[in-house]
This record gives sequence, structure tokens and C-alpha cells, in this order.
Amino acid sequence: MSKIYDITLIDGDGIGPEITQAVVEIIDAVGVKINWDKQLAGARAYERYQDTIPEVTIKSIEKNKICLKAPITTPIGTGFKSVNVGLRRHFDLYANVRPSKNLPNVKTPFSNVDLVIIRENTEDIYAGIEHKIDDETIHGIKLITKKGCERICDFAFQYAIKNNRTKVGVVTKANISKLADGMFLNTFREVAKNYQNIETHEILVDNLCMQLVQKPSQFDVLVMPNLYGDIVSDLCAGLIGGLGLAQSANIGTSCAIFEAVHGSAPDIAGQNIANPSGLLRSAIMMLNYIGENNAASSIENALFEVLKEGKILTKDLGGNSTTSEFKEEIIKKLSV
Ligand code: NAI
Repeated sequence: MSKIYDITLIDGDGIGPEITQAVVEIIDAVGVKINWDKQLAGARAYERYQDTIPEVTIKSIEKNKICLKAPITTPIGTGFKSVNVGLRRHFDLYANVRPSKNLPNVKTPFSNVDLVIIRENTEDIYAGIEHKIDDETIHGIKLITKKGCERICDFAFQYAIKNNRTKVGVVTKANISKLADGMFLNTFREVAKNYQNIETHEILVDNLCMQLVQKPSQFDVLVMPNLYGDIVSDLCAGLIGGLGLAQSANIGTSCAIFEAVHGSAPDIAGQNIANPSGLLRSAIMMLNYIGENNAASSIENALFEVLKEGKILTKDLGGNSTTSEFKEEIIKKLSV
């Protein structure tokens, strides 16, 4: 009998429920049995529990260890901390993995992009330590720890080995941030000694940005502190066709949360026109993570075939098909 997985499902706000429904149906069609534990976070959670990350959602992720999360809306107003940053910190999801690889039939200026950003996900300015010195002076702290540097650099090398990649680059601004980024860079050099078969290189973040928009094919795995990773990974999503297609995984020592990169798109919510590819590709990462590699490949191949044919595409990809039609076309092409 095939295994049944318990996985927390946060279907989010805005377009979240529509794209989640499509992804759940595709996973069901490929034959992976999942007992989805549906929970709320974000604006709908606030309406129901007056809390954007309710305790019941935290408990569910603690129990299941794996979560698929659609985008959520951060309620407007003061005092609402980012739910995403909150979840990453609560579960110590220290590694944010963002692959960028060209997709069939998605025209972009470059045709040979295949790189992965490994972003440190818990430290840096995201530690949220800011002090008001006076009305016109703010002191914001960039927090970097040795332990944080070690584990993310090690993660990057391990990722390279597991995914048959040959090169890991470290990205910093160590010429200016001599202590904080200096420690990140030095730690990378120390960790690299344990991985003699992997080629390494060092690059400053400003130079990286320029090189990425000129010759992205030279990069493979890139590891960097939180803020640079946040910015550079969006740049890389742009290289392959935009945020609507980009996937991500947030991985810690005991839990993992898989989520699309784009937001809740309130402007198109409820119209059945959103592109579910970002969440679907995050779900493919999740299936690989739990060892369902065949199902993951089957869904990826079906998605790529639909993109390649170019007949049934959502509006953002230049087509006029609905989310449901796009989903049905993927299901038709699954090899099960
Ligand atoms: P957004 O990513 O939601 O939308 C930007 C533009 O891209 C819009 O025109 C939207 O229609 C389009 N778009 C986004 N995803 C799409 C998809 N799957 N298919 C087709 N078109 C798509 O960014 P925005 O408008 O800045 O943020 C809206 C809300 O989302 C805010 O409350 C923000 O805080 C939240 N947000 C949540 C994230 C998350 O939960 N991971 C990430 C980013 C923003």
C-alpha cells in the first residue's frame, strides 16, 4: 500500500485558494496520497483568530514537519509583522532555496540560465533589531552569527553535491561590511575545505548583479546573507520570466515550508485566471524533499509540455485560458 503523508496546507489569501486547489488536484492525479491538514495564516487567519499566525497553525506545522503554503496578504496597518518572516524564524528555516532555470517557451533575454540561490533566511536585518535614537535617527542592526554562517555555507555545499552541481560561489559585500560579511566570507572559506571536489568562487554583490544581467550562465550555486539573497533571488526570477513562475523552499533542521515567490495578487483574485505554476513548482520541490521523485518528475514534465505547446496558457503567459483549464491540461499530460 502506498504511503499517506500528513502535510500542513495553508491556502492563503487572494489568489491563494484558487492556485492551491489546482495544485492539490494535480498532486492527487499523480497518485501521491496526502492527508492535507488545512490551516490559516495571514489576513483570513486574522479575521478568524485576530492573529496572523495562529497557534493552531504553528502546532500543525510542528506535528507534520512539512507545509505547502500559498501567498498570504499582510493586513494593512501598523504592527503587523511579516507572516513569512515570522514562520521562518519560529521554525528556524535557515535555508531559502530558489532555483532559476529557463522554462520551455518562456521567452527571456537569456536561454541558458540554470542557477540556484541559497539565501540565509533567519539573520541579517531580518532579525528585526532597530532602535530609534531620536526622531531623525534610527539604528538598524545587521545580525550575523558564526553558527548561522556555518550552517548555510554547509547547506550550499551539500545542496550542490545532492543535485550534481559543481560550483558554489559566495556573495558578500565584505569590502565594506568587514566584520559581518567578513565573517560570512571567512566561514565559507573554512567550510569549503571540507568539499575539495566542489569548485568555489567569491564575488561582491554589486558585481554579481551586473554579471547576472550580462552573462548569467557562468553561475551555478550561489550562497549569501539574507538581504542580498532576497534581492538577488527576485532578480534571478526575472531572468527566467518573472515571479509568477518562481518556486522556493524554506528548509530547517526539523521542518520545511514550500511556497510560491509571488504575492496574493488581490487585483486578479477570484477570477480563475491566476497562474498556479509558482506554487506547483514549489510543490514539486516538496515532493522531491519527501522522496516522491517520480511523481515530482511526472508533474514537472507535464507542466513543461503544456508550456512548450503554448496552447493552454494563463493570461500572464500570453494566453487566455483559465486556472482550471491550465490545471486540466497538466493533468492530461501526467504519466501515471
Ligand atoms: P503580487 O505578487 O501579489 O502581485 C504583483 C503582480 O503580479 C500583480 O499584477 C498580480 O496580478 C501579478 N501576479 C502575481 N502572482 C500571479 C500569478 N500567480 N498569476 C498571475 N499573475 C500574478 O505582489 P503585490 O501586489 O505587491 O502584493 C500583494 C499582497 O501579497 C500584499 O499583501 C503582499 O504583502 C503579499 N505578498 C505575499 C507574499 C507571500 O505570501 N509569500 C510574497 C509577496 C507579497
